[in-house]
Amino acid sequence: MNIDLSTNYMGLNLKSPLIIGANPFTDKIDYLRIYEEAGAGAVVYKTIFQEQVEKDNLLFDELMGEYGDRNAEMVTIAPEREDTGIEDHVFKITEIKKQIKIPLIVSFNCTNIKSWVEYAKAIEKSGADALQINLLFVPHDLKKSSNEVEEEQLQIVKSVVESVKIPVTVKISPFYSNVNLFLDKLAEVNVKGVVLFGKFLNFDINMNLNKINARPYLSHKGENSNSLRTVGSYYKSECNLSLVSNTGILSGMDAVKNILVGASVVEMVSAILLEPRKASVIIDDIKNWMSKNNYSKIEDFKGLLSEEKNKDLKYTYNLVQYLDNKENVSELLKRILI
Ligand SMILES: Cc1cc2nc3c(=O)[nH]c(=O)nc-3n(C[C@H](O)[C@H](O)[C@H](O)COP(=O)(O)O)c2cc1C
Repeated sequence: MNIDLSTNYMGLNLKSPLIIGANPFTDKIDYLRIYEEAGAGAVVYKTIFQEQVEKDNLLFDELMGEYGDRNAEMVTIAPEREDTGIEDHVFKITEIKKQIKIPLIVSFNCTNIKSWVEYAKAIEKSGADALQINLLFVPHDLKKSSNEVEEEQLQIVKSVVESVKIPVTVKISPFYSNVNLFLDKLAEVNVKGVVLFGKFLNFDINMNLNKINARPYLSHKGENSNSLRTVGSYYKSECNLSLVSNTGILSGMDAVKNILVGASVVEMVSAILLEPRKASVIIDDIKNWMSKNNYSKIEDFKGLLSEEKNKDLKYTYNLVQYLDNKENVSELLKRILI
C-alpha cells in the first residue's frame, strides 16, 4: 500500500503532519537540516520576544557606549543602531530560508499592539512562510475582566492578521473559561491555525536554596490529555481553522491519536529535543500504523474519533470528574495504575 503522509496545513504543503515546535534549536541551521532530513513537515522558529530584543539592544548600546568612549574609531565601525533589533532576526530568517525547503513558521511575542504589527510585517518580509502569535501570558490586572483580557487578545490577533498576507497561527494557553468559544472568535478574525496548547514554565520552590525556580521542562506521558479532549470536542470538518495539537505528544502513536480526534498536524518538542533524529522514527511509526489500518492518506482518518463524528461520545468528551458507578474497587485501581 502506498502511504502518503503529505498534508495541507493552512495552504502550506507539508510532507508530513509532524511539525517541530519552537525550541532553542529551531534558529540553528544544523538542527533545521536534521529535522528536514528526518521528514518533519515544518519547523517553528523559536519565539522572538520583543522584551528580549529590547534588552539585548540596550546591553549592546551600553557596551558600545563604554567601548566607544575608550576608542573613537568605534563610532565609525559601529555607529549607534537605530533599528528596533528585529532586523537581526529578519536577516537570520532570510538566510535560513535559503537553506531549507520545509516551511518555516516564525513565533513572536510583543508587548504592545504597534509592535505586534511592526514585528509581523518585518517577519513576513524575511520570507517566513507563516506567523505564530505566541499568546501565552498570565493576566494579573485586577481591574480587567476575563472578557476584556480576551477582547484585547483578539484585537492583537486581528491587527496582525490584517497586516500580513501569510497565514497566521496562534498558540494559546490552556486556561480559558470557555475555550471553544474563544476558538470560534479566533476563526472569525481569520486565523488559519491554532496550537492547543502551549505550556508555562514549571514553577516550583527549591527547598535547599529557599528560592523560587521557574524553568522549562520536558513533557511527560499523560500531559496530552487536555489537548486531546479539546481538539476532539471542538473539531469541525467544515471549519477553516486548522487545529494543531501540542504538549505531551511523545511518540508516533500519540501523533496518530491527535489526528484521530481532529488535529491537522502536531507540534512536538520534548520527544525530539535531545534526539533530533528521532523525528524519523516518529514518522515511520505513523506510517506503519496507517499501513496496518489500511489508511493511505492523513485525511482518511483525521477526525474519526471527534465528537462531531461520534455524537455518542458527547458524554465521554464532557466527563471530567470521577463518578462512582459502583465499579469494583480492584478494577478501578487497575484502571488508575495503567
Ligand atoms: C527548552 C524549551 C524552550 C522552549 N521555547 C519555546 C519558545 O521559544 N516559544 C514557544 O512558543 N514555545 C517554546 N517551548 C514550548 C514548546 O514549543 C512546546 O509548546 C512545549 O514544550 C510542549 O510541547 P512538547 O510536549 O512536545 O514538549 C519551549 C520548550 C522547551 C522545553
